[in-house]
Amino acid sequence: MKFCVDTDKKNSWYIGTDNYDQFLLNKVESLMAQGNGYLGIRAVSEERQLDERRNMFVAGTFDEYPGEVTELPNLPDLINMEIVIDNQVLSLRDGRIEKYHKYLNLKNGELVRIFTWIINGKKVFFKFSRFVSMKDKHLIVSKVEISSDQDNLNIQIRSGIDGQQTNSATQHLMEGDKRLYEDRFIQLVEETQQSHIKFVFNVRHKVYVDNVLLNIRPYIKMGRRQIFGNYDLNLNRDQTFTLVKYSNVYTSLDQDIKTKELATQSIIKLKDNCKKSYRELLQTSTKVWNKEVWQKSFVEIDSEDIRPQTAINFARYQLAVNTPRDPRMNIGAKGITGEGYKGHTFWDTEIFMLPYYIFTMPNIARDLLTYRYLGLAGAHKKAQANNYRGAQFPWEAAIVEEGETAPLWGSADIVTGESMKIWSGFIEQHVTSDVVIAVMEYLNATGDQEFAEKMGYEMILDVAKFWSSRLEYDQDHDRYEITDVIGPDEYKEHADNNAFTNYTAQWCLQSGIKVYEFLLKEHPDIYEKLNTKMNLENEYPDWLERVNKIYLPRPNQDGIIPEDDKYLQREEIDVTRYQANNQVSDVFKDYNLAQINKMQVTKQADVLLLIYLFEDMFSDEIKADNWNYYEPRTTHDSSLSLSTHAILANDLGLSSAAYRFYEKACEIDLGVHIGKAAQGIHMAACGGIWNMTVEGFGGLRIENGQLRIEPALPKDWHGMEYQINWQESLVHVKVIPGQMIVAVSGPEIEFVSHKQIYRVPADSEITVEVSVKTEI
Ligand code: BGC
Repeated sequence: MKFCVDTDKKNSWYIGTDNYDQFLLNKVESLMAQGNGYLGIRAVSEERQLDERRNMFVAGTFDEYPGEVTELPNLPDLINMEIVIDNQVLSLRDGRIEKYHKYLNLKNGELVRIFTWIINGKKVFFKFSRFVSMKDKHLIVSKVEISSDQDNLNIQIRSGIDGQQTNSATQHLMEGDKRLYEDRFIQLVEETQQSHIKFVFNVRHKVYVDNVLLNIRPYIKMGRRQIFGNYDLNLNRDQTFTLVKYSNVYTSLDQDIKTKELATQSIIKLKDNCKKSYRELLQTSTKVWNKEVWQKSFVEIDSEDIRPQTAINFARYQLAVNTPRDPRMNIGAKGITGEGYKGHTFWDTEIFMLPYYIFTMPNIARDLLTYRYLGLAGAHKKAQANNYRGAQFPWEAAIVEEGETAPLWGSADIVTGESMKIWSGFIEQHVTSDVVIAVMEYLNATGDQEFAEKMGYEMILDVAKFWSSRLEYDQDHDRYEITDVIGPDEYKEHADNNAFTNYTAQWCLQSGIKVYEFLLKEHPDIYEKLNTKMNLENEYPDWLERVNKIYLPRPNQDGIIPEDDKYLQREEIDVTRYQANNQVSDVFKDYNLAQINKMQVTKQADVLLLIYLFEDMFSDEIKADNWNYYEPRTTHDSSLSLSTHAILANDLGLSSAAYRFYEKACEIDLGVHIGKAAQGIHMAACGGIWNMTVEGFGGLRIENGQLRIEPALPKDWHGMEYQINWQESLVHVKVIPGQMIVAVSGPEIEFVSHKQIYRVPADSEITVEVSVKTEI
């Protein structure tokens, strides 16, 4: 594995770099981004730099600029500090930089940057540190420490709130009041243009020399959307100057504050925080990281190579930083680490990130699924607009009840020169099934009856209603088809009978039928309620008539499941050079989408994802045949592809291929290639790292509603341990060569391993012999 950032030799909790590398600037800003699920800030430097992307977002605060697509507004900059030393503006491009080191402590989210700036014959030592609190989600604390080898060094600092940020030139925020309270606290109030969400930003600085707090008042300067405090003082060679900046952010969507009194209440909160030191606040935040993240998602890999552990730490860090703990919001494809995908949510959440939450923090999984439940209004709207019934979930989701948010137009076609229409919002329909796949997985793992009764059953039934109305009857074959869709392989637009779409649609209909019959028999009260709401008794006969007539592309004589009706007849080209190239979408340099549509070129796991998700539907031979067929035709241009390939390869006993895919998947963000991480982290790839580690090598799956544990570790791993939640119990799995120990806290559990059923009595453990799969 090649990581863009160094990992300290023995410490898998640090990612860092000793190079100030302009080329990797944006990537490092994304990789080391900080946050707490509520707000996210890129790891920009305090002083401004060329080509930087200074972003701060608060989850869920979408706004739609006229004529543009809804997006998360880029908020005022609270990180910027302009520093002038003896009349020379701090810039890493001037003078000489020595001993540069920038690192992120993944364990508590503290970002530190240290360097010596040699300028005009002086050596000036800088240390910048900051964190976003996990304890108080509104709070950001930053600190700069400066010392030098000279007497009488003049330091001027301008720091405050700079609302002149934009989303690539779009300004979402209208300026409100700018204020100073008690000579020390500065405040900017703003409001989004269209969604009218109010924001309040507050800052207070504390200045110390040699740890003694100075009683100095800042000289305040205001500009358009800007309010700064200015400090000016002289320092001797044996002294250290420290400035601590306490900032907070509140919005009118917050539920933990009286939103009518945002401006005054938020100042009171900041005052409280200012009573504590940087260190004290970091300590309380660190405790929350430990308790809420690291203990709950415990994974330890025993290997000489620390990179696998770094990768899983990084993935869990990013998931924690980018997941809102509020059911009105969901995880963006790039989280809140950059402008990419505008903060929108895709199927990435359900298929790639939810397994992590279902097994480690089921309450968060429930919130993420609740978001889809709250989104039913938008899903109905979308179905109706397309003349379907039931719930058709949006391909891209933002404001929970608004439904489809996908953009209509993309960049220009290299052949025609015209803007390309983005069809996903219209015809990439598998997302509706993906939601139900996740609901079922959640219910199987947790047995959360309350969720099922309040939300889960309704979602399953509403989706069955959609698919039933979506099916097209083909008289010639007396069967139902689904034509004109995009499957997970987005390089095939307007495909007929995409295997992934058809199989999952049938499965959703089967699930709807099961839930319908179960409720009718076991819970007539719930049945009645839902029947009144959804007219189910009129739907059900159709479901029964249709479900077994849905056309499923079956394996052909060579065992290949056709990805769609035409795929296997399309022209074949050699994709190895696109696979070998580490930049994504290189195939577009040679062909346009219309041309790629006619070729056997697959963007990402499609049939193979189906096989992975519904593994008990297909034999090992069919799995291997499809692996051998599709992988060589896949460019892996989506960050969602590699993790599925790694897991499937491991399942097939192809352990070296599995490890190769695993390493590449870990490098999607952490790797040396710039890729798209410049615009934000790939959240689904982070989920994928956990999936490959725990579901892949750790062998954790749900099969027919039952827990299955069949580890198969890479050859260089001596062992691994992980913890999951299963029903009411916490389950700790330890794998060592030839053995696994499954320990339970809580009630008895049952699991399957290699077709044998094991029981672990309440609060005890058992040891199971594990056979090692060998390469075939
Ligand atoms: C992928 C989609 C994915 C989206 C957001 C696209 O490139 O093809 O499957 O949902 O990115 O991550």
